[in-house]
Amino acid sequence: MKIISVENVVKCFPVGDGKFTALDHISLDFFTGEFAGLVGPSGSGKTTLLNIIGSLDKPSKGKAQVAGKDIEALTHKQAAQLRNHSIGFIFQVFNLLPVYTVFENVEFALLLQKKPWHERKKAVMDALEWVGLENMADKKISKLSGGESQRVAIARAMVKRPRIMLADEPSANLDAKNTHSIMETMKTLNQEFKTTFLFSTHDEKVMQYLDRIIHLEDGKVVKDEIITSRKEDF
Ligand SMILES: Nc1ncnc2c1ncn2[C@@H]1O[C@H](COP(=O)(O)OP(=O)(O)OP(=O)(O)O)[C@@H](O)[C@H]1O
Ligand SMILES: [Mg+2]
Repeated sequence: MKIISVENVVKCFPVGDGKFTALDHISLDFFTGEFAGLVGPSGSGKTTLLNIIGSLDKPSKGKAQVAGKDIEALTHKQAAQLRNHSIGFIFQVFNLLPVYTVFENVEFALLLQKKPWHERKKAVMDALEWVGLENMADKKISKLSGGESQRVAIARAMVKRPRIMLADEPSANLDAKNTHSIMETMKTLNQEFKTTFLFSTHDEKVMQYLDRIIHLEDGKVVKDEIITSRKEDF
């Protein structure tokens, strides 16, 4: 099933008296269960495109349909609802609350949903188990390593079981070992729940896990690669 459809999307930002075209007629479709990534030089438009797909921003022209909703037509409230129900975000900086515990940081994602406490607790503990942090639930974020923090961010994004996960340079603050480890975790979640993952990355270590690599340059798609075989398959 097609879950993301981007059609002729243009995004311009005002600069001085003129405008800068960050996305220049992008058309891309993503199907449920894809594990795909946007790659390209700094400034090529990766984050801009993720922000539009994540309903954090709107196209200047063109159409983006995400989980059945037209992004350009959404009100603020409808965009927030789409994010709350269907989209999980993982960023380069973890955006966690340092003085709260691991459990509380993941639980925050559920507070808007007004679920009863026992359901919330189960959902949080399940999510912590997916990322291997079930024994650290009561630890403060400020006491965690970078890799552990990124795992909390993944658990927080996954706790609502969104259909789509958007990850903007999730390995930027991690060493090689932690990068492999979070990629393995996300690949497992992708396979287990058929969650669609879309990354932006410069990192070869991330790219080697992707099933599809979309190359952007100057706001255009220059190559859309389906990866059919990997080194470890030989
Ligand atoms: N709010 C904004 N106002 C003006 N220009 C912007 C804005 N957001 C992004 N841009 C410009 O649009 C271009 C694309 O930015 P974007 O952040 O999407 O690049 P990127 O591919 O994610 O780069 P990086 O790899 O460095 O994260 C850049 O030239 C950037 O300066
Ligand atoms: Mg970026």
